[in-house]
Amino acid sequence: MQMTDEQIYQNDARDYLPVFARYKIVLDHGDGVYVYDSQGRKYIDFLGGIAVNVLGHNHPALVKAVAEQAGKLIHCSNLYYTEVQARAAEKLVKLSGLGKVFFANSGAEANEGAIKIARKYAHTISPDKSQIITALHSFHGRTIATLTATGQPKYQEGFGPLPAGFDYVEYNNIEALESMMSEKTAAVMLEPIQGEGGVHVPEEAYLRKVRELCDKYDALLLFDEIQSGMGRSGCFFAYEAFGVKPDVVTLAKGLAGGVPIGAFISSDKVAEAFKPGDHGSTFGGNPLACAAADVVLDTIGDDSFLKNVREMGAYMKMRLDGLKAKYPSLIKEVRGMGLILGMEINKPGRDIVNACLEKGSIINCTAGNVLRFVPPLIVTKEHIDEVVDILDSVLPDYID
Ligand SMILES: Cc1ncc(COP(=O)(O)O)c(C=O)c1O
Repeated sequence: MQMTDEQIYQNDARDYLPVFARYKIVLDHGDGVYVYDSQGRKYIDFLGGIAVNVLGHNHPALVKAVAEQAGKLIHCSNLYYTEVQARAAEKLVKLSGLGKVFFANSGAEANEGAIKIARKYAHTISPDKSQIITALHSFHGRTIATLTATGQPKYQEGFGPLPAGFDYVEYNNIEALESMMSEKTAAVMLEPIQGEGGVHVPEEAYLRKVRELCDKYDALLLFDEIQSGMGRSGCFFAYEAFGVKPDVVTLAKGLAGGVPIGAFISSDKVAEAFKPGDHGSTFGGNPLACAAADVVLDTIGDDSFLKNVREMGAYMKMRLDGLKAKYPSLIKEVRGMGLILGMEINKPGRDIVNACLEKGSIINCTAGNVLRFVPPLIVTKEHIDEVVDILDSVLPDYID
């Protein structure tokens, strides 16, 4: 018998670990940029499963590839070769210009692997080269090592003792980074655009100077592109927009369009630090996830697709700037790049997110007061207008 929404809420309260502050709708299916709840209500989805549904919902080529692969081989472990994994890896190596890929199952796991390979590589230079520097307000995941890498105490409280060797520095402040680095620095790990921390785009020269400092101290540059990658910035990797190449980059979220996956890609030089047995995963890079990734990579790797992301991003930024001009006492700043956009307001954003939901628009709030827009990358101007118009109708209620 089908469950009612009320039964689902009650079961969740009884059975599920209470770690999520969920919004009270039960989602049932999706189509393109829209999702539908159990009551048949339609929502325009500008959160996309938190920057995951890059091709939207129910994308025909993605659905076909997943269905066909499920009918052939869902899983077989990494003890054997599969064509789909070889294809996905080849595409990522080409797109990144780096050397070797490892597939994991999530963003946190991809970052764990990146941290491990960085430490292993650094230890080939010196046994006390182990410091990993990350940024304040960063977000790198929820495992013990990645929450330690995350420069926000609220994610770390209660989970000690944390792994040693992590230090934090102000983002976008090259002097602060320089004063913390030495020959003992194994790696600097940064999001080229901070997502969870409130959508912060660094100054153009910053990442280039970080690269120079890493070269000076023989430290690796790790870019966490789990949120900023997969075309979201308007380039396939956000680092391309800054003209900087990392030694290791991590991806997850949109990589397989919603099928769980993560990946880290390292230069050949760094990859040599890993020998058989140094890392592994039962599920990572399984045929189902790789078949999905193949389709996503073919679609997003195309420059005409990325051009549209840049154009739609610019259009949405322009429309959000219009709201800022209209409501200057409420909106402090609109920022972002491509289709990762944030609107900082002068009060907590959750009520506004709820009000938008009631009017049929899914958006999100991060860092307490930054409305975040990370829609599917297939959005059109009409979709953007729909969301911005709903926001425009909601915001006046929140002006003091
Ligand atoms: C930049 C960044 N790194 C890592 C993660 C963690 O990814 P996951 O939730 O798949 O473990 C996230 C998730 O929001 C992220 O935005």
